[in-house]
Amino acid sequence: MKVLGIFGSPRRGGNTDLLLEEALKGAQEEGANVERLHLSDYTITPCKECHGCDNTGNCVVLDDMQKIYPRLLETDVIIFASPIFFYGVTGWAKALIDRSQALWSRKYLLKDPLLGKEGRKRKGFFISVGATKGQRVFDGAILTVKYFFDVLNAEYVGELVFRGVEAKGAILKHPEALREAHEAARELASAGKKG
Ligand SMILES: Cc1cc2nc3c(=O)[nH]c(=O)nc-3n(C[C@H](O)[C@H](O)[C@H](O)COP(=O)(O)O)c2cc1C
Repeated sequence: MKVLGIFGSPRRGGNTDLLLEEALKGAQEEGANVERLHLSDYTITPCKECHGCDNTGNCVVLDDMQKIYPRLLETDVIIFASPIFFYGVTGWAKALIDRSQALWSRKYLLKDPLLGKEGRKRKGFFISVGATKGQRVFDGAILTVKYFFDVLNAEYVGELVFRGVEAKGAILKHPEALREAHEAARELASAGKKG
Protein backbone atom coordinates (compact mmCIF):
# COMPACT_ATOMS: atom_id res chain seq x y z
CA MET A 1 0.00 0.00 0.00
CA LYS A 2 1.32 3.41 -0.97
CA VAL A 3 1.09 6.37 1.39
CA LEU A 4 1.97 9.82 0.10
CA GLY A 5 2.78 12.46 2.71
CA ILE A 6 2.32 15.97 1.33
CA PHE A 7 4.25 18.58 3.29
CA GLY A 8 2.51 21.91 2.71
CA SER A 9 4.57 24.17 4.94
CA PRO A 10 7.56 26.09 3.62
CA ARG A 11 9.13 25.90 7.12
CA ARG A 12 11.24 22.76 7.03
CA GLY A 13 11.27 20.99 10.37
CA GLY A 14 8.27 23.04 11.52
CA ASN A 15 5.19 21.85 13.32
CA THR A 16 3.26 20.21 10.50
CA ASP A 17 6.49 18.64 9.19
CA LEU A 18 7.10 17.06 12.60
CA LEU A 19 3.54 15.79 12.82
CA LEU A 20 3.56 14.40 9.31
CA GLU A 21 6.94 12.70 9.81
CA GLU A 22 5.55 11.05 12.91
CA ALA A 23 2.46 9.96 11.00
CA LEU A 24 4.57 8.49 8.21
CA LYS A 25 6.59 6.51 10.77
CA GLY A 26 3.32 5.04 12.01
CA ALA A 27 2.33 4.05 8.47
CA GLN A 28 5.78 2.55 7.85
CA GLU A 29 5.40 0.42 10.95
CA GLU A 30 2.49 -1.28 9.21
CA GLY A 31 4.60 -1.96 6.14
CA ALA A 32 3.27 0.90 3.99
CA ASN A 33 5.38 2.10 1.12
CA VAL A 34 5.81 5.73 2.18
CA GLU A 35 6.69 8.64 -0.08
CA ARG A 36 7.29 12.26 0.80
CA LEU A 37 6.39 15.33 -1.22
CA HIS A 38 7.77 18.61 0.14
CA LEU A 39 5.87 21.21 -1.84
CA SER A 40 8.37 23.99 -1.22
CA ASP A 41 10.94 21.98 -3.22
CA TYR A 42 8.78 22.34 -6.32
CA THR A 43 7.74 25.16 -8.59
CA ILE A 44 3.97 25.02 -8.80
CA THR A 45 2.52 27.95 -10.68
CA PRO A 46 -0.98 28.96 -9.58
CA CYS A 47 -3.83 27.84 -11.84
CA LYS A 48 -4.24 30.32 -14.70
CA GLU A 49 -7.92 29.52 -15.18
CA CYS A 50 -7.30 29.11 -18.90
CA HIS A 51 -9.57 26.06 -19.11
CA GLY A 52 -6.87 24.38 -21.16
CA CYS A 53 -7.60 21.15 -19.30
CA ASP A 54 -11.34 21.10 -20.04
CA ASN A 55 -11.06 18.92 -23.14
CA THR A 56 -8.00 16.84 -22.25
CA GLY A 57 -7.76 16.57 -18.48
CA ASN A 58 -4.15 17.67 -18.80
CA CYS A 59 -2.76 20.94 -17.54
CA VAL A 60 -1.07 23.06 -20.17
CA VAL A 61 1.35 24.62 -17.66
CA LEU A 62 4.57 22.65 -17.96
CA ASP A 63 6.12 23.10 -14.53
CA ASP A 64 6.87 20.71 -11.65
CA MET A 65 3.19 19.93 -11.19
CA GLN A 66 3.55 17.59 -14.16
CA LYS A 67 5.74 15.36 -11.96
CA ILE A 68 3.20 15.51 -9.16
CA TYR A 69 0.02 14.45 -11.03
CA PRO A 70 1.19 10.83 -11.45
CA ARG A 71 2.26 10.66 -7.83
CA LEU A 72 -1.21 11.74 -6.71
CA LEU A 73 -2.82 9.13 -8.93
CA GLU A 74 -0.48 6.29 -7.95
CA THR A 75 -1.09 6.46 -4.23
CA ASP A 76 -3.63 4.71 -2.01
CA VAL A 77 -3.48 7.10 0.93
CA ILE A 78 -2.71 10.80 1.04
CA ILE A 79 -1.77 12.46 4.28
CA PHE A 80 -1.93 16.16 3.61
CA ALA A 81 -0.29 18.51 6.10
CA SER A 82 -0.52 22.28 6.05
CA PRO A 83 -0.41 24.93 8.74
CA ILE A 84 -3.08 27.61 8.71
CA PHE A 85 -2.11 30.71 6.80
CA PHE A 86 -4.84 33.37 6.95
CA TYR A 87 -7.58 30.85 7.76
CA GLY A 88 -6.69 28.57 4.89
CA VAL A 89 -3.93 26.25 3.73
CA THR A 90 -0.55 27.69 2.67
CA GLY A 91 -0.04 29.12 -0.80
CA TRP A 92 2.12 26.09 -1.64
CA ALA A 93 -0.69 23.74 -0.72
CA LYS A 94 -3.34 25.85 -2.44
CA ALA A 95 -1.33 26.00 -5.66
CA LEU A 96 -1.23 22.20 -5.78
CA ILE A 97 -4.93 21.97 -4.99
CA ASP A 98 -5.93 24.52 -7.63
CA ARG A 99 -3.78 22.83 -10.26
CA SER A 100 -5.72 19.65 -9.52
CA GLN A 101 -8.43 21.30 -11.59
CA ALA A 102 -6.98 19.21 -14.44
CA LEU A 103 -8.00 16.09 -12.53
CA TRP A 104 -11.36 17.67 -11.73
CA SER A 105 -11.85 18.06 -15.51
CA ARG A 106 -10.92 14.41 -16.05
CA LYS A 107 -13.38 13.30 -13.42
CA TYR A 108 -16.37 15.58 -13.93
CA LEU A 109 -16.13 16.86 -17.51
CA LEU A 110 -14.52 13.90 -19.26
CA LYS A 111 -16.03 11.25 -16.95
CA ASP A 112 -12.73 9.37 -16.76
CA PRO A 113 -13.63 6.01 -15.17
CA LEU A 114 -10.25 5.95 -13.38
CA LEU A 115 -11.52 8.80 -11.20
CA GLY A 116 -15.13 7.61 -11.14
CA LYS A 117 -16.94 5.20 -8.85
CA GLU A 118 -15.31 2.20 -10.48
CA GLY A 119 -11.82 3.73 -10.19
CA ARG A 120 -9.20 3.25 -7.51
CA LYS A 121 -10.49 4.07 -4.04
CA ARG A 122 -8.15 6.21 -1.98
CA LYS A 123 -8.18 7.57 1.52
CA GLY A 124 -7.19 11.03 2.68
CA PHE A 125 -6.24 12.44 6.05
CA PHE A 126 -5.51 16.06 6.98
CA ILE A 127 -3.07 17.41 9.56
CA SER A 128 -2.95 21.07 10.52
CA VAL A 129 -1.83 23.50 13.18
CA GLY A 130 -2.65 27.13 13.84
CA ALA A 131 -1.23 29.72 16.19
CA THR A 132 -4.53 31.01 17.45
CA LYS A 133 -7.23 29.31 19.45
CA GLY A 134 -10.18 30.44 17.32
CA GLN A 135 -13.06 27.99 17.21
CA ARG A 136 -13.33 28.12 13.42
CA VAL A 137 -9.66 28.47 12.54
CA PHE A 138 -9.54 25.15 10.64
CA ASP A 139 -12.97 25.32 8.97
CA GLY A 140 -11.84 26.81 5.66
CA ALA A 141 -8.82 24.53 5.28
CA ILE A 142 -10.84 21.43 6.06
CA LEU A 143 -13.40 22.28 3.38
CA THR A 144 -10.67 22.96 0.82
CA VAL A 145 -8.89 19.69 1.57
CA LYS A 146 -12.13 17.69 1.52
CA TYR A 147 -12.94 18.97 -1.95
CA PHE A 148 -9.39 18.22 -3.13
CA PHE A 149 -9.65 14.66 -1.82
CA ASP A 150 -12.98 14.25 -3.59
CA VAL A 151 -11.31 14.90 -6.95
CA LEU A 152 -8.86 12.08 -6.23
CA ASN A 153 -11.53 9.61 -5.16
CA ALA A 154 -10.04 9.83 -1.70
CA GLU A 155 -12.46 9.31 1.14
CA TYR A 156 -11.90 11.99 3.78
CA VAL A 157 -11.22 9.79 6.80
CA GLY A 158 -10.48 12.56 9.26
CA GLU A 159 -8.15 15.21 10.51
CA LEU A 160 -5.85 16.07 13.38
CA VAL A 161 -5.72 19.78 14.11
CA PHE A 162 -3.93 21.61 16.89
CA ARG A 163 -4.57 25.16 18.05
CA GLY A 164 -2.18 27.51 19.84
CA VAL A 165 0.99 26.19 18.17
CA GLU A 166 3.15 28.92 16.67
CA ALA A 167 6.94 28.80 17.04
CA LYS A 168 9.00 26.39 14.99
CA GLY A 169 9.00 23.06 16.80
CA ALA A 170 6.46 24.16 19.43
CA ILE A 171 4.53 20.96 18.73
CA LEU A 172 7.35 19.05 20.45
CA LYS A 173 5.94 20.38 23.71
CA HIS A 174 2.82 18.33 22.95
CA PRO A 175 4.03 14.76 22.75
CA GLU A 176 0.43 13.53 22.80
CA ALA A 177 -0.14 15.33 19.47
CA LEU A 178 2.80 13.49 17.91
CA ARG A 179 1.54 10.23 19.35
CA GLU A 180 -1.92 10.88 17.90
CA ALA A 181 -0.44 11.53 14.46
CA HIS A 182 1.61 8.34 14.67
CA GLU A 183 -1.38 6.28 15.75
CA ALA A 184 -3.83 7.76 13.22
CA ALA A 185 -1.57 6.90 10.29
CA ARG A 186 -0.64 3.51 11.71
CA GLU A 187 -4.34 2.64 11.94
CA LEU A 188 -4.97 3.93 8.43
CA ALA A 189 -2.18 1.76 7.04
CA SER A 190 -3.30 -1.23 9.07
CA ALA A 191 -6.89 -0.87 7.80
CA GLY A 192 -5.53 -0.59 4.25
CA LYS A 193 -3.59 -3.85 4.65
CA LYS A 194 -6.77 -5.63 5.63
CA GLY A 195 -8.46 -4.17 2.55
C1 LIG B 1 1.65 33.93 6.53
C2 LIG B 1 1.15 33.31 7.82
C3 LIG B 1 -0.21 33.35 8.09
C4 LIG B 1 -0.72 32.76 9.25
N1 LIG B 1 -2.07 32.79 9.49
C5 LIG B 1 -2.57 32.20 10.58
C6 LIG B 1 -3.99 32.20 10.83
O1 LIG B 1 -4.79 32.73 10.07
N2 LIG B 1 -4.44 31.59 11.95
C7 LIG B 1 -3.60 30.95 12.81
O2 LIG B 1 -4.08 30.38 13.82
N3 LIG B 1 -2.25 30.92 12.61
C8 LIG B 1 -1.72 31.52 11.51
N4 LIG B 1 -0.35 31.48 11.28
C9 LIG B 1 0.53 30.76 12.20
C10 LIG B 1 0.91 29.34 11.74
O3 LIG B 1 -0.20 28.58 11.39
C11 LIG B 1 1.67 28.63 12.89
O4 LIG B 1 2.84 29.34 13.23
C12 LIG B 1 2.04 27.19 12.59
O5 LIG B 1 2.54 26.58 13.76
C13 LIG B 1 3.08 27.06 11.49
O6 LIG B 1 3.26 25.69 11.18
P1 LIG B 1 4.59 25.12 10.49
O7 LIG B 1 5.68 25.17 11.52
O8 LIG B 1 4.24 23.72 10.11
O9 LIG B 1 4.87 25.97 9.31
C14 LIG B 1 0.17 32.10 10.16
C15 LIG B 1 1.55 32.09 9.86
C16 LIG B 1 2.03 32.69 8.72
C17 LIG B 1 3.53 32.65 8.44
